[in-house]
Amino acid sequence: MKTMKPTHKALFILCPTLVLGFIYYSSGKLHLHVWGPKPQLETEITGGRIVGSVYDKQGFLLQLDTKLPQELAYKYGNLSEGACKPGYAAAKMTTIYPKFMKPAPMFLDRNFKLLAKVSNYLPPFGFKTQEKVIDSILTATKYYGLGEHLDSLSCKRCIIVGNGGILFNKSLGSRIDEYDVVVRLNEAPVKGYSKDVGTKTTIRITYPEGAIQKSDNYEKDSLFVFSAFKPLDFKWLRQMVFKEKLRGTEGFWKSVAHYVPREPTEMRILNPYFIQEAAFQFIGLPLNNGLMGKGVRHMQASL
Ligand SMILES: *[C@@H]1O[C@H](CO)[C@@H](O)[C@H](O)[C@H]1NC(C)=O
Ligand SMILES: *[C@@H]1O[C@H](CO)[C@@H](O)[C@H](O)[C@H]1NC(C)=O
Repeated sequence: MKTMKPTHKALFILCPTLVLGFIYYSSGKLHLHVWGPKPQLETEITGGRIVGSVYDKQGFLLQLDTKLPQELAYKYGNLSEGACKPGYAAAKMTTIYPKFMKPAPMFLDRNFKLLAKVSNYLPPFGFKTQEKVIDSILTATKYYGLGEHLDSLSCKRCIIVGNGGILFNKSLGSRIDEYDVVVRLNEAPVKGYSKDVGTKTTIRITYPEGAIQKSDNYEKDSLFVFSAFKPLDFKWLRQMVFKEKLRGTEGFWKSVAHYVPREPTEMRILNPYFIQEAAFQFIGLPLNNGLMGKGVRHMQASL
């Protein structure tokens, strides 16, 4: 059985946390309308790590060009540009966002039931009620890491390519391709846009309604990474993993893929810890008994 080494865990936490932070936070307008008052500007973070930076209530930097704290600048400033900086992302994340929590495995593995923080919540914040389905899925997928080559790197540079269109005509494709791990979301196209968005996709994070529906539109080598929003989603994943005919699509809010052209060994389940962390800690989503709120559904729709 293949399990992640602790160092990998530490390195992997940033990608999904940032993806989800990005997903939720990029729905900023919605966040402001639905979840509460406008962010209050604070000139100092409680605990006083950085003075003079502007944060919203959840600890997100409002001015992204804020200078690095001195200890980080000192530690990493001398490395040449483009070099992989072990621990840098985690350190910066903690500086920006002091509530940043300890690492967790990026994907569920056979020991997933030991993950205390997520075992008591229904999807999307945990896997309660879905343990058996997940067990059978993980038996088939067999692998729980990024793959031999990436898992062996002691430092990985990762980039999350969003779907907002801001990359259009920016010719950043070759820059994006330089990263070790390129994360894309849902149906974000690559074919025909590679000059701007690159050609490489390491992982594509998706859920049933967001998954690419036309088999031809899947790129060749990416990992299909599943993120559940509701219990029914796991049932869908099981059918995709075992290549079963999809019976009935009630319960989905739009049409879903009927077939995913991936081998089970190329499929992973994103640890719901990252959704939980992004929702509860980063944006302070009301717990709502651990169930999805109406607003979150709109966020899903806007991905
Ligand atoms: C980085 O460079 C600064 C200024 O050039 C120097 O004072 C410092 O000692 C260097 N830090 C490391 C870790 O080498
Ligand atoms: C793309 O960028 C080029 C160079 O910056 C510019 O001349 C051109 O008008 C842009 N095209 C579109 C469709 O925006």
